[in-house]
Amino acid sequence: MGCAGCHAPPEFSIDPNSGNNGVIGNLGAPGIDVNNTRSPSLRDIVGTDGTLNGPLMHTGQFRGLQAVIGHYGQINLAPGNTRLDPRLRPNGVGQQLNLTQPEVDAVIAFMRTLTGRNVYTDVRWSDPF
Ligand code: HEC
Repeated sequence: MGCAGCHAPPEFSIDPNSGNNGVIGNLGAPGIDVNNTRSPSLRDIVGTDGTLNGPLMHTGQFRGLQAVIGHYGQINLAPGNTRLDPRLRPNGVGQQLNLTQPEVDAVIAFMRTLTGRNVYTDVRWSDPF
């Protein structure tokens, strides 16, 4: 499934019907957490200096965009993950993207065009309600 199915333009905000994306670490507790089905906008992940504004996913386990795409390239069907989005398990099999390095680089380059810090500083984004 394409990234934009869940991270929809123009703000690359999350599809309200998204399941989880296979990142099921549980912060501060044993076991897994399959209930994270929301993501912030994919804008401003990378700062204007080209470095990540912060670690990625609810676990903070990814510190680079290459690793994120690697995750989506080989989705793991973890036992107990009852909320993995069906789009990431076509025909019941964990998604295998088989991307070439130039394709990975192109996705990274695209996400880098969404660079900035506006999400953190503009008052228009300060109230989620
Ligand atoms: C089935 C829906 C779905 C698809 C398809 C999907 N994502 Fe996600 N994405 C999510 C969810 C849900 C999260 C939040 C996960 C978390 O925080 O643990 C997320 C988180 C992310 C994050 C981390 C955001 C942050 O601020 O921590 C990045 C980057 C990302 N996705 C990029 C991609 C890319 C690139 C693709 C395509 C290769 C993609 N996503 C496809 C649902 C999806």
